[in-house]
Amino acid sequence: MSNHEHQESAHKPLQRKEMSRRQFLSYTLGGTTAFMMGGAVLPMVRFAVDPLLEKKTEGTFVKVVEESKITTDPQEFKFQIHQVDGWYVSDPELSAWVSKDANNKIFALSPICKHLGCTIAWNAKGKDEYDCPCHDARYTKDGKNITVAPNPLDEYEVKIENGFVYLGPVKPNSRVG
Ligand code: FES
Repeated sequence: MSNHEHQESAHKPLQRKEMSRRQFLSYTLGGTTAFMMGGAVLPMVRFAVDPLLEKKTEGTFVKVVEESKITTDPQEFKFQIHQVDGWYVSDPELSAWVSKDANNKIFALSPICKHLGCTIAWNAKGKDEYDCPCHDARYTKDGKNITVAPNPLDEYEVKIENGFVYLGPVKPNSRVG
């Protein structure tokens, strides 16, 4: 073996060794980076997506008043709901006009006028109707629109449990055709 050949053969394995070390490093660093990115990104993705997957508070009922306090004359009751809408959590105060019908069935109307959204009140003008102060819409005790508003007042879902009235989500008026 000449001196030159010896150098060649000694050089080749060295080159292969360097390449494999470089590859090893790039795989290792690449893998570590990917792992770290995964560790950082996955929680972010979870954070971003979780609230959207979370069940909303729709369908939950809030205890509002003792059943015994409800008469055939509508009364206004205020209550708070816990609301989760994506990332936005709030506890808005709502109000409902609650009364009994001729069959002693308790029902609750939303105070939001179906004309342009002002707040109605019972018997504000002494006519045994719901009146809206904005453009004079009027509704019957069942929430049926008499003038101005195009639709009846919405209703809350009502549940009676252990002597208390619970109010749930708002639904279209089921009392008037
Ligand atoms: S908003 Fe009620 S009448 Fe216009």
